[in-house]
Amino acid sequence: TWTTEAIIDDQLERVREQVGSDTVLLGLSGGVDSSVVAALLHEAIGNQLLCIFVDTGLLRYQEGDQVMATFAEHLGVRVERVNAQKQFMDALAGVSDPEEKRKIIGREFIRVFEAAAKTHQEAAWLAQGTIYPDVIESAGAKTGKAKVIKSHHNVGGLPEEMNLKLVEPLRELFKDEVRRIGIELGLPRELVMRHPFPGPGLGVRILGEVRPEFVEPLQKADHIFISELRQANLYDQVSQAFAVFLPVKSVGVVGDARRYEYVIALRAVETVDFMTARWAYLDHAFLDHVSRRIINECGGVSRVVYDISGKPPATIEWE
Ligand code: XMP
Repeated sequence: TWTTEAIIDDQLERVREQVGSDTVLLGLSGGVDSSVVAALLHEAIGNQLLCIFVDTGLLRYQEGDQVMATFAEHLGVRVERVNAQKQFMDALAGVSDPEEKRKIIGREFIRVFEAAAKTHQEAAWLAQGTIYPDVIESAGAKTGKAKVIKSHHNVGGLPEEMNLKLVEPLRELFKDEVRRIGIELGLPRELVMRHPFPGPGLGVRILGEVRPEFVEPLQKADHIFISELRQANLYDQVSQAFAVFLPVKSVGVVGDARRYEYVIALRAVETVDFMTARWAYLDHAFLDHVSRRIINECGGVSRVVYDISGKPPATIEWE
């Protein structure tokens, strides 16, 4: 069996041999896989690595700044941040169908990434955080075996016109190996052990039409939920947890005043493979505390509900 160190050494050598003195582009998303690729390639080729981080405006609370702090400031990785929030919002205006939203977000992502890539003609390679389970999944999709329930924009890769050769150093690795490599290469444990986050981000956690004014309350609510889970040592016990913005108004009362505002749903699940999942039996006092904080601190939210649906029949995400 291979130790983590041996896997890293082997990959460093392979990458160096593969790319030589060429420049390598990487779309850094802030997720575990692309983060570990960034750390690995930075170790292997230093400044020959250029990361492009697309801020879609649909990321978690302060995530854009965190990505920049961790990679650019802390690790000294070359990262170019593209602030494309408005482009994504404009493209999503008036669209409420979930699959349509996924397509738009995927398409805009490719557009923004390609435009950034074009300004770096020196690049000869595109790095991707493909891991072994992705390879299996997309092989299944090609032969029609995998049921495509939702189009995952981060699987399938970028268009071939980009004319870049692919480097995929995690292609033979499982998630737990990827995580161990990340830790070994000095990435923060919090980042490496993070719950999965869908490619379309908050675009599928704001139900229906994505309006700019829904983003901030959702980010704040999600952040409160996640920080409280961490503080109560519950974060690692659930497989995935998040808040969902429901564009439904409900009546509430504060003091003497009647409020007519939106609803936040909290979702926390336990699962091994994400194909089936049960809702997490979170302590009621804990949920009560989170709910009060969300209503007091988020603005525009008058009610919090907890999702008690299993998968199946419900999916983990609401869209
Ligand atoms: P569902 O909602 O299908 O989710 O039960 C299963 C897992 O997949 C994630 N998910 C996505 N990931 N793009 C992604 O990259 C997507 O469009 C997408 N939709 C769902 C979800 O967060 C959960 O971990």
